[in-house]
Amino acid sequence: MALPTSSVITLHINGEKFTLPVDHRTTLLDALRERLDLTGTKKGCDQGQCGACTVLVDGRRTVACLQFAVAAEGREVTTIEGVADGERLHPVQQAFLDLDGYQCGYCTPGQICSAIGALQEHAAGWPSAATDDLRPESGPPPLTAEEIRERMSGNLCRCAAYASIVDAVAQAAGTRAIQPAGTQADSEEQAA
Ligand code: FES
Ligand code: FES
Repeated sequence: MALPTSSVITLHINGEKFTLPVDHRTTLLDALRERLDLTGTKKGCDQGQCGACTVLVDGRRTVACLQFAVAAEGREVTTIEGVADGERLHPVQQAFLDLDGYQCGYCTPGQICSAIGALQEHAAGWPSAATDDLRPESGPPPLTAEEIRERMSGNLCRCAAYASIVDAVAQAAGTRAIQPAGTQADSEEQAA
């Protein structure tokens, strides 16, 4: 007997329930964009390399192009359409606006969802590859520009708006990025 190749699933997205039939090979990204018209989440590479499709699944950063829609059933999915509080932008969205953290804006939904996840990870004390002091009792490491760059390194920006993105993430975290040694001149040059 042939195994079924499609199922009816219920996705929880931005506080709403959506029930839809999907081929089992449908990615969460395609379900969002092609089936549910939630086109804020972008498709860049479609192979987990660029981060344009980043959403939050149960609060964790996830590249939606590498997750099957069926695997997201019963989990809380947050897309860029769901991060604001009504008319009030999420602090990360506001910081991207304030500091021009984008140019064409194509990568921006993924950058913002990723930044929200990254700040939560940092607040929880998770180290990154840039963290020097890994002792648990040290708590969250200083959120330096280097830390932000490392934590956001899965999100590519073809416009290279990286300097402003780092500043925006730092602003959203309620702190100014502490420039690692040797980058002060770069920072001043960018600000000029
Ligand atoms: S579209 Fe998913 S990582 Fe590039
Ligand atoms: S702002 Fe254009 S790709 Fe990032």
